[in-house]
Formats: sequence, structure tokens, C-alpha cells
Amino acid sequence: MSALRALALFAFFLLSTIGLLGSIAIAQVEDGVRASTGGAQTLEDIIARQNGLQIDDEFRRANTGDPSAGAAITMPLGTMGGISDPEIWRSLRYGSANVSASAGTPGATLLVQDDGMQWLQIRAGPLRTYGGYLLLAVIALLAVFMLLRGRIRIEGEKSGEAFLRFNAVERFGHWLLAGSFILLGISGLITLFGRVALIPIFGKEAFSVIALASKWVHNNVSWAFMVALVLVFVCWVIHNVPNRADLIWLAKGGGLFTKGTHPPARKFNAGQKIVFWAVIILGASISASGLSLLFPFEYPMFAVTFEKMNALGIPGLLNMEPYPEVLTPHQEMQYAQLWHSIIAFAMIALVIAHIYLGSIGMEGAFDAMGTGKVDSQWAKEHHSLWYKEVKSKQNPEQNPEPAE
Ligand code: HEM
Repeated sequence: MSALRALALFAFFLLSTIGLLGSIAIAQVEDGVRASTGGAQTLEDIIARQNGLQIDDEFRRANTGDPSAGAAITMPLGTMGGISDPEIWRSLRYGSANVSASAGTPGATLLVQDDGMQWLQIRAGPLRTYGGYLLLAVIALLAVFMLLRGRIRIEGEKSGEAFLRFNAVERFGHWLLAGSFILLGISGLITLFGRVALIPIFGKEAFSVIALASKWVHNNVSWAFMVALVLVFVCWVIHNVPNRADLIWLAKGGGLFTKGTHPPARKFNAGQKIVFWAVIILGASISASGLSLLFPFEYPMFAVTFEKMNALGIPGLLNMEPYPEVLTPHQEMQYAQLWHSIIAFAMIALVIAHIYLGSIGMEGAFDAMGTGKVDSQWAKEHHSLWYKEVKSKQNPEQNPEPAE
């Protein structure tokens, strides 16, 4: 179950990401009857923009004060060679104005960025809505699983023999990762949902303190998460290389749905390997986008990623227009924020399921990370191949029989 759920969550994460990027990259509307407005915007264009769709605005983009395009000086409404206010605003809007700023930062000369509106709408709309639903759905599924299956018990007689499962370094790495992740998850959710969920309860004054504290926690605890991610990777990568036993484990659903079924597994079963690789890959990606947000404009990564994806033909495979390869510094930040949050939702969903199975969902599991030791009967039932390996290293003469 844990494996299937993890797979389903990963698929959802990918689909929602693709959908979101798609909606940003390819929304288009027809040109409409522009000729009837003398080449200016149509009502259709304006409504489309208000709905967050992209329009083909080539007709305006270049119309930013080219003297040869203006009315001649001798004609009525001639511009005497100057450029009009609308032309100045258009050139600011399309980034072609010659702006200089004393601040030398990459975004300093960008005075108008109307894609920002689209980002704001996604962040305040689908991101919160679907992200929130995803977390509620996982909690509901776990509740159903708990009702139907109950706690997964040790089925044989407990032996009383304590069997070392995780040493102190492994446990330190795990709890540093878990502790920092939980703090990051809570402070991140406060940042995203605080305005709608907390201001009505605590008021604006109190929320400003909560929001500032969350930001401080989020920015600083991120380092502990990154260190822990490396530590956990180093400790466990060797135990997470896929093998043939994983296929059998997956085919039997890990024995999670049926009592008395215990497909053999080494130190980590296929479900745990999925959790491990998801945590490592998503954790690395959330760290990269987080660093990009922590040091604004310093590490733009989306234009270059989109360029590579276009070169590989990925948008075509998904029946989408090519992704934008030229992004303003602000758009880079907006993509980083959306990506960071999407991955965060996928990870939180996965981790909720993991926490359930590692605590109340399975008898004896928590001890493995708590004291580091498990009952040998637990080891025989859930990780029979690992139990056998460790036993035969301890007593090369003996050949213990694992539980089926
Ligand atoms: C209160 C929260 C948590 C509890 C109670 C918990 C419990 C556990 C337990 C008992 C194990 C060992 C399972 C075994 O012996 O086979 C484990 C493993 C692991 N944990 Fe956690 N965990 C928590 C939070 C987290 C978080 C937040 C992350 C990552 C962001 C995480 C990542 C992992 C990984 C990668 C493993 C190894 C693979 C696996 O067993 O699934 N854990 N956890």
C-alpha cells in the first residue's frame, strides 16, 4: 500500500506540475477583430488578459515610439518626434525601455511585469486549493486504510530479543531530517495559507508576528534539512539500490493489505525505497528552488531548464507549445516559488503517509527509529532477507529460518 500510494502521489505531483506549467506556457486566444480598433487592443484581448490568458501582443510590443511609425509632424496629432505616454508605458511593460537604476541588482530595471498577476492568481487560487485538497485526501485515505486494516501487528510471538536496526548516526540523520522537515512544512504552510486561514482567527497584528517568525524559521532551518538530506543519502543509498525482491514485494502489495503475507525484503523494502528516492530527488529539487528563492535573482534556473526540455522535445510529447526560453528575473523567481510549493505539497503528502506507517500504523516500527532496536520477530516478518543476512554475519554457522 505504501508503495502504491507513493507511486500515485508521485504521478499526481508530475501531472499537476505539467498541468500548471502548461497553463502558464501555452494559453493563447484568437487575434479577434483587431482591424476594427485601428490596430489597438480589442475587448476580447482585454478580457482574455483579465482571465490570465496570454494573448498574441506583437501588435503592441513594438509600438513603443518608433518616430517613423508616428504621425508626421505636419499631420493632425503629429507627435513632433517625441513619444507619447502610452508608448512609454508600453516600452516599460515589454521591457524595451532604456531604464537605468542606481541599484545594480538583476531585477532593478524591470519596472512593470504583468506576468506577476498570473503568478499571484495561481498562488492564491489553484496552488492553495489543489494543494490543500491533496493533503486532506491523503489524510482521508489513511483514515480509511486504518479503519479497514487496523494497526499492522507483529503476527508471531514476540521473541524479546532486541535486534539493532539503525545505529546512532542513522537515527541522528533521520530525526534531523524529520525535525527540520516538519518545521519547514508548518512554516511554509503558514506562509501560503496564513492570510486566508490565520488572519480571520488571530487578526492582522498577531499574524504579522507569526508570519515573521515563520519566515525566520523557514529560511534558517532549511540548512539543517539540506545537511540531513546529504547525511541520510550517504547512510542509506547502498540499501536502496533496487533488486528483484522489490518486484515481488510490489506485486504482493507489500503484504500491507492482507494479514499473514510477508514478502521478503532486505534492509529496506520496495515501498521504503520509493520513499527514500522520492525524499532524495524531491528534497534536492526543493533545496535548489529554495536556494534560488533565498538569494533572489542570483540562481535563475527555469529558462535554462525549459531550453533543455524544449531541445528534448518534451512539450511536443505532451502536446504543448514550447516552454518560454527567455524569462525576466522576476518570472524566474515566480517559477521557483511555484515549483518549490508544488514539490512541498507532494513531499508533505508522502511524509504524512510515511509518518502514519512509521508510528501508529505498524506495531514495532517506531522502535526502529526510537531506540534503534526492533524485536527479532518484527525483523523476521518485515525484513526477512535482512534478518537472515545480519544473523549469518553474526553466526556464520547458523542459518536462521525467516518467517513467511
Ligand atoms: C514524526 C515523524 C516521523 C516518524 C515517526 C518517522 C518514522 C520512521 C521510521 C520508524 C522509520 C524506519 C522504518 C523501518 O524500520 O523500516 C523511518 C524511515 C525513514 N524516514 Fe521517517 N519518520 C518521520 C518523519 C520523516 C520525515 C519528515 C522524513 C523526510 C522528509 C522521513 C524520511 C525517512 C526515510 C527516507 C526513511 C527510510 C525509508 C523508509 O523507511 O521509508 N521521515 N521513519
